[in-house]
Amino acid sequence: MIARRIGENVFWVGAVDWDRRLFDALIPLPDGTSYNSYLVVGREKNALIDTVDPSMCSVLFARLDDLGVTHLDYVVANHAEQDHSGCLPQILARFPEAKILGTPRCKKMLVDLLQVDEDRFRPVEDGERLDLGGKTLEFIFAPWVHWPETMVTYLHEDKILFSCDFFGSHFATTDLYSNENPRVYEAAKRYYAEIMMPFRSLIRKNLDKIEEYSIDLIAPTHGPIHNKPRSILEMHRDWVSDAVKNTVVLPYVSMHGSTQAMVDYLTEALVKKGVSVERFNLATSDLGKLAMALVDTPTLVVGAPTVLAGAHPQVVSAVFLASALRPKLRFASIIGSYGWGGKTVEQIAGVISSLKVEILEPVVVQGYPRDENFESLQRLASEIAARHADNGIV
Ligand code: FEO
Repeated sequence: MIARRIGENVFWVGAVDWDRRLFDALIPLPDGTSYNSYLVVGREKNALIDTVDPSMCSVLFARLDDLGVTHLDYVVANHAEQDHSGCLPQILARFPEAKILGTPRCKKMLVDLLQVDEDRFRPVEDGERLDLGGKTLEFIFAPWVHWPETMVTYLHEDKILFSCDFFGSHFATTDLYSNENPRVYEAAKRYYAEIMMPFRSLIRKNLDKIEEYSIDLIAPTHGPIHNKPRSILEMHRDWVSDAVKNTVVLPYVSMHGSTQAMVDYLTEALVKKGVSVERFNLATSDLGKLAMALVDTPTLVVGAPTVLAGAHPQVVSAVFLASALRPKLRFASIIGSYGWGGKTVEQIAGVISSLKVEILEPVVVQGYPRDENFESLQRLASEIAARHADNGIV
């Protein structure tokens, strides 16, 4: 296995995980992923930037062997999550002289998560610089990209930002660079939606913070390196902005066709009003695509049949996830059918109550929808279109 050069004495030594299909036992990975680790070699010292998932330590070691690395001065732990820190115990065992560098909060998390010996850790300060001998690392605290302890590391001489999860994409490839590949950017949006969106306002501050640095390469810990950094920076600026599109996201389940008929009718009614609809049949949908659609929509309509006395569990699960991702929603409603009663509306409204959205009057019917129910759906479509227009969403 080879190390791949990305700059003068700077190397990619990561691992590509072609077969992984699930992250956090939750997030679908249709394109696999990678765990990027980098080695920076100065005249006097060297530093490994992040490690790889514990399942792939042998790949990292093989790439370090390719470079003939027998001594390691520092391991920069930008982030304590195990897909990047998981090989630290093996790295510390193999290189007993190596010190871990990270935020003070990272130290506590690594001690808690990996039982790392705290004497092996040297906390750094925000803005601190470390000269390796012609290679100057600067540590820039960037909380919540993705956990509270995260930082990014800037290599001054080569203008490389080692950005940890920030600007990452779950995308397995042999390509070292993204080269503005639209598939990488789609994976990056999915990644932002699933990982970063809940911290949108903090991400915005972190974007401001790195704005002052001149960056030639953004080297994240997942997916290809961004060799056109302006493009991915601008995308993130757009995603974290308050701008939304004239769309409705409509996740739903239908058991016997009644809720389906309502979803179909509402879709047509919205389209006639000039509002686009992104539908997700939760029985077959990829939750990552739902998350992506939520990045820039103002309105969520949930289609939920009643099972026994409550909302369909698959709908509850998806709406719970949507709420946890804290998208920039402004309006929400619920449509669906029930057989003999139940608390579907109350349950779903309860799940989305943390989102501070205006709930537009739900349309919930007994059995198959009748003419008056379709009229109610028409009214809901008109109300959504009017709310969008009133808020300048066109
Ligand atoms: Fe890729 Fe938050 O770890």
